[in-house]
Amino acid sequence: MISRPSKQRSPKIIYVTPSHQFPLGMTMSLARRTALIDFARTCDAYIFEDDHNSEFRYTGPPLPCLQGLDNAGRVIYAGTMSKILYPSLRLGYLLAPEQLVEPMIKIRAVMDQHSPAIDQATLARFLTEGFFLSHIKRMRKLYSDRREFFIKQFNNLLSKYFILEIPEAGLHFVAWLRRKVDLPVITRVCAEIGIRPSPLSSCFIKPELNPALTFGFAAWSRAQIREGLAKFASSLNAKLH
Ligand SMILES: Cc1ncc(COP(=O)(O)O)c(C=O)c1O
Repeated sequence: MISRPSKQRSPKIIYVTPSHQFPLGMTMSLARRTALIDFARTCDAYIFEDDHNSEFRYTGPPLPCLQGLDNAGRVIYAGTMSKILYPSLRLGYLLAPEQLVEPMIKIRAVMDQHSPAIDQATLARFLTEGFFLSHIKRMRKLYSDRREFFIKQFNNLLSKYFILEIPEAGLHFVAWLRRKVDLPVITRVCAEIGIRPSPLSSCFIKPELNPALTFGFAAWSRAQIREGLAKFASSLNAKLH
């Protein structure tokens, strides 16, 4: 059940990322999904389901998307090609309840008319000729392998300084610093050796959580992961005790 103070106004739309919250990486449980749909129905609100990264889930039970669970036309589902193919393609898609299709087309028309026709046509052929599914399968296997390798290497080399949080889905990890005071040295070492994990604090309006860094693993081969983490660990070992 989702409860809220009765004085608060009811939401008109609820934005969620159930497969993978960015940046912390949680996946929404089935119980929370059904509770959210019930809540939206009670408030007469829409849910905007941003399901980026749903294709890259490595562990945990299979979970239906909110759009699949909803039978009251309350969910707008958004998917993206940014993770599956590449971000600069700038193509994604929406599944909208019938009553929203026309208004959404009108909004899109005044925003920027439409996405590039040639890119869309090429993607359509990629989908209809069966390459899309086999590509996802191949990438899931590749990323799963890199993910396992990254976890093993990171924990072997860097567990003295970080606690690695392991999400069920996605293409990055959050590594929490064991000691807050190490942050300036760790930040300096990253700059010196040319690795660029993002500080978790860059995602916050107020940095209220402990310091952490986010590491992408999907774009790197095993050799690059091994080399990068080994260099990072040896520089930290030289500067921190
Ligand atoms: C929360 C969230 N939604 C969606 C996306 C994908 O956005 P786009 O399709 O605009 O590249 C991202 C990209 O990292 C994201 O972090």
